[in-house]
Amino acid sequence: MNKRSFIKKVAMAGIGVPLTGNALANWVDRVNHLPAEKVASDESFWAGIRGGYRLKPDYINLENGYYNIMPEQILENYIKQIREINYQGAYYMRTVQFDNKKSMATKLAAMTGCSPEELIITRNTTESLDMIIGGIHWKSGDEAVMAEQDYGSMQEMFKQVAARFGVVNKIVSIPNHPATDEEIVQLYAAQLNSNTRLLMIPHMVNITGHILPVQKICDMAHGKGVAVMVDGAHAIAHIEFKIADLHCDYYGASLHKWLSVPLGSGMLYVKKGKAGDIWPLLAEGGKDANDISRLNHIGTHPAATDLAIGAAIDYYNMIGPARKEARLRYLQQYWTSKVRSLPNVIVNTPVDAARCCGIANAGIKGMKPGELADTLLKKYKIYTVAIDSANVQGCRITPNVFTMPEELDVLVKALTELK
Ligand SMILES: Cc1ncc(COP(=O)(O)O)c(C=O)c1O
Repeated sequence: MNKRSFIKKVAMAGIGVPLTGNALANWVDRVNHLPAEKVASDESFWAGIRGGYRLKPDYINLENGYYNIMPEQILENYIKQIREINYQGAYYMRTVQFDNKKSMATKLAAMTGCSPEELIITRNTTESLDMIIGGIHWKSGDEAVMAEQDYGSMQEMFKQVAARFGVVNKIVSIPNHPATDEEIVQLYAAQLNSNTRLLMIPHMVNITGHILPVQKICDMAHGKGVAVMVDGAHAIAHIEFKIADLHCDYYGASLHKWLSVPLGSGMLYVKKGKAGDIWPLLAEGGKDANDISRLNHIGTHPAATDLAIGAAIDYYNMIGPARKEARLRYLQQYWTSKVRSLPNVIVNTPVDAARCCGIANAGIKGMKPGELADTLLKKYKIYTVAIDSANVQGCRITPNVFTMPEELDVLVKALTELK
């Protein structure tokens, strides 16, 4: 089969009668009795899930880490919510808007494993985490610790509080292939002292997919009196966990990533009793200092996006958190296991299955990541993102549950051929 007809065949697999509603639920019922690891490689099952998405046929999308497009089922629900709010107008906004947002936050708290009093819906990870970084009552000489692999917006916010308040930022570098959890814990422990106010860690490093031992790091930091803020942008609805089990103080994430909520949706967890330590991003009056909703004032905003969280959680629960995690890990290992030993390829993601899931990163020796991304798109019709920062030179490869092994074979072929 030539490349054009292959891409067409792959694209066609995403067309047809979309599986939604009861038909989709029945489809998933078929595999409910099977272990997640077995379902992970059942291509006929995942072809049905793929059929519920509208996929652009021009390229193979391996950049689902930026944002997970919505399956038709969530998209249709979102459009319905937009129509309904437009129909009710100001009446909706003045009567049930806030109660509805709260009920979505309660549902999200149940999904993410925390109490509803500890979680608010925000617009994205940037808003959630930058509110904490900017809202701490800093004094000159306080220290903050982070990694050069952390997301740029948060690093910029730390630079801003350094310039405003005289905070000292200490930056570590996370190894791509740690031998043990202890190596990571010690990397951070070495930077903490009596001046440290906040440690920021990624749950999953966005440029490599590396999953950090969050609970161990939090326990170590708390032993030294340091609060921990976790960047969970890529972890929510990607890997299974409960926020309460992480022992962190703050946790921010974007729901438009792995939960497939429409663009512009995020969450912030603040451990009970700690909301009073933070200045809100935008002022809110008449609330108790420790009431987390004090941190949630953003003015009029697209309320339909909040409502779509409900349909996205239902969809995620229907696919099944364990099944989704197993599928994503299977897809990552499917291609990385074929290229790790190639002499021209560098895989920047740990080999240990517990230290990574769907995301991985690979580069070609001697080739700039930007050139690799261009070549993958122009020559192989694969869309990825180039990463050229810290100790990571390569392209981030992010499949979604609907990605087919045949698509990853194209990536493997490309990485094998490129020099
Ligand atoms: C680790 C990490 N943190 C934060 C963000 C920012 O997310 P958003 O733009 O949704 O605020 C991203 C975006 O990719 C990310 O990967």
